[in-house]
Amino acid sequence: MPPSLNQDALLAWFAEHQRDLPWRQLKDPWPILLSEILLQQTQVSRGVVFWQRIFERYPTVQSMADSTEEEVLFLWQGAGYYSRARRLFRLAQVVCSPSSDGGHGGSLPTTARALEALPGVGPYTAAAVASIAHGEAVACVDGNVRRVMARQTAETSPSPASVQSWADAALWSPDAGNWNQAVMELGATICTPKSPKCTSCPIASSCEGRQEPARYPAPTLRRKKRLDLMCILRLDARGWPELVQRDATGILAGMWGPVMAESLDVDSLAYLGEVHHVLSHRDMHIRVWKGAVDSGVDPQSVPLSSLDVKILSLGGAE
Ligand code: ADE
Repeated sequence: MPPSLNQDALLAWFAEHQRDLPWRQLKDPWPILLSEILLQQTQVSRGVVFWQRIFERYPTVQSMADSTEEEVLFLWQGAGYYSRARRLFRLAQVVCSPSSDGGHGGSLPTTARALEALPGVGPYTAAAVASIAHGEAVACVDGNVRRVMARQTAETSPSPASVQSWADAALWSPDAGNWNQAVMELGATICTPKSPKCTSCPIASSCEGRQEPARYPAPTLRRKKRLDLMCILRLDARGWPELVQRDATGILAGMWGPVMAESLDVDSLAYLGEVHHVLSHRDMHIRVWKGAVDSGVDPQSVPLSSLDVKILSLGGAE
């Protein structure tokens, strides 16, 4: 354990102050996996809404395996980062295929190592699910854990290996799942990136960065990449748009929307305006032109991203 880290104080704080998240009542690995995948790129308040909607439709991994990718994408509409949904669907299919075909016969594997072999499951998700659902003594590292570590040790730019070593040494192995969640919860609610609430922190006494928390960790200067795209919104006489399914890769993977590309021939089309869409590391600017098509698609009938919903409303699509 890092010198003087008061594990009891952090666990007692977590027992009293943890947020009431619906999957915290459950020990079943499937809803826990779903929550961890959703929370990776979605804020907790929005993540809860999507978790409820998706878990209600897919209470078991088998129920998702029996569904279709399109239906999973429908339920994921608005949550963003749609490749997560496609990989989760693939995961459900692998898990539910017979062991003779390299599957898992319908049960999620129980160890972090075996979980990590599944589509869309990285070291963080594997450690979170194995520790929370099965009590495996593995430490999770996410952005919250890194911030708590950087402040506790007053390191401005801790390497991934040093964060992992700190987390491994800090782990309270009798209940690793509870411990991991306590550290993440502290990072999410007390040891926040801006204005941390150090006076309420249960482990402030061992915090070497407490005098200047804003210095730890040093912000990474990762400028958002600007992406300029063109889009043609073609509408039919009913106001239904022409919609195409997007490529299997990228942030809009598998979702539907109007034709969009870096360069399109828009000669003689009317310019409608620009849609701005901000993602975690991309700043998208989409210029939209209006065209006509004989027969469009009912936009309610296919999964659409929030970006595409914005484009459709710019053109007054029905
Ligand atoms: N962020 C992502 N997963 C979390 C969890 N299980 N507890 C607290 N914060 C989290």
